[in-house]
Amino acid sequence: MSATRPAAVVVLAAGGGTRMKSATPKVLHTLGGRSLIGHALVAARETEPDHVVVVVGHDRDRVVEHVSVEDPMAVIADQDDTPGTGRAVECGLAVLPEDLVGTVVVTMGDTPLLSGHALRDLTAGHVATGCAATVITATLDDPTGYGRILRDDGGAVVGNVEHKDATAGQLAITEVNSGIYAFDAATLRATLPRVGNDNSQAERYLTDVLAIIHKDGGRVGAHRLDDTWQTEGVNDRVQLARLGAEYNRRIVERWMRAGVTVIDPATTWLDADVTLGVDVTIHPNTQIHGASTIGSDVAIGPDTTLTDVEIGDGATVVRTQGTLAVVGAGATVGPFAYLRAGTTVGVHGKIGAFVETKNAQLGAGAKVPHLSYVGDAEIGAGSNIGAGTIFANYDGVDKHRTTVGEHAKTGANNTFVAPVTIGDGAVTGGGTVVRRDVSPGSLAVSTGPQRNIEGWVESRRPGSAAAMAAGRRNEAGRADKGGGADQADST
Ligand code: UD1
Ligand code: CA
Repeated sequence: MSATRPAAVVVLAAGGGTRMKSATPKVLHTLGGRSLIGHALVAARETEPDHVVVVVGHDRDRVVEHVSVEDPMAVIADQDDTPGTGRAVECGLAVLPEDLVGTVVVTMGDTPLLSGHALRDLTAGHVATGCAATVITATLDDPTGYGRILRDDGGAVVGNVEHKDATAGQLAITEVNSGIYAFDAATLRATLPRVGNDNSQAERYLTDVLAIIHKDGGRVGAHRLDDTWQTEGVNDRVQLARLGAEYNRRIVERWMRAGVTVIDPATTWLDADVTLGVDVTIHPNTQIHGASTIGSDVAIGPDTTLTDVEIGDGATVVRTQGTLAVVGAGATVGPFAYLRAGTTVGVHGKIGAFVETKNAQLGAGAKVPHLSYVGDAEIGAGSNIGAGTIFANYDGVDKHRTTVGEHAKTGANNTFVAPVTIGDGAVTGGGTVVRRDVSPGSLAVSTGPQRNIEGWVESRRPGSAAAMAAGRRNEAGRADKGGGADQADST
């Protein structure tokens, strides 16, 4: 066993999260596109422990289901009705081998900025100093709510007092307990049963273990983290937003250092799992969520929200909302485009202004430039869809597909009543309602021939502004024809 590898990491996630005032368990609230417990699990795994245990209780089924997706190898421990972080760890140890030796790291499910690196440092320091317990501490300007670290005159850690149980003098202490510890497994197992609940919350505090070990003559170490953000917990939504902003600031900064231009870091939000290529430019007010993958030389934004998308090299996505969509290399999207699930824009293709797409696959160079709805469709390479076209995919009962072949050119203001196929190289006239298949190379028109009724306005609406305007124009025309004009109109 390497010194920096704990035998187990126990993640506490059984608390009610009362201060969130939420129907969702606290540890399932998200930050940077990942749940709070998800962050804790990523950090835990980075220490390469033999076991990861998650202690659940409040809303346990929802938390367990989520944990099984985030980290299928994690072992679940149920906390019983006895409250407190001490009892939680006791329940966590109960699912681990009785003869477990080495280091047990305890972390909180609500401390999302804590890194695996900090946990490795904690473990290494704990083992190197031979302490029975080592606690990560931080010195905060505002220690409100946190447990305060108690030290003796020599500076040795002798215990912790919770904010609610602290005297005025103790409240002035600014060194706080992060709630993250490394313990010697056997010492922890022997000490926990001795933790009582004689405190303001009548809970069995894990923090009491520190004083018990100290009184027993064991050594308690403190591992101070200068990066205090890593020690901060989320107890309410104000803290969630505060830590979320800092987490985002860190991600955005990391991408800028990796070759991404971010015009306005303050209004750019990138989830933890987003990846970006070099020379990407992100314009203001842009959010990229989920497992989105952005190629190189891509310009995104302003005012764009993308979730779980894949954008190819050299593409441009302006003022767009997109989910579960793939945009080919060199394609352009927007402004004001709405790409819904199942959209694929081909290489060098185009989705223009005010276009909504859903379950639509466009071939290379295919274009839907203006004001259209494209639902349940396939559009072949090189085809161009006229402005204002509706792919009418829904008959009120079922959804149907429309297929447009390659190099077709459809007119403005068409309606394609699915299921229907427009063949390769076919053309449709303006205003066509396509109800029957159009064979390759055919021209489809469905509107009747235009009929003009001369003088209709002047005879039906005499005296109206329209009739007077028409009258003036017709008179001028007659004068021209009479040869009185200075300039002859050759057309
Ligand atoms: C705890 C510490 C406090 C520390 C702070 C750091 C205790 C008694 N206090 O306080 O010293 O400064 O964290 O953020 O440990 N949990 C359980 N079972 C329970 C109670 C809590 O699993 O019975 C879990 C919660 O889900 C949460 C974590 O433990 O993930 C911390 O619980 P919370 O109630 O937020 O503790 P704090 O009051 O913040
Ligand atoms: Ca907390």
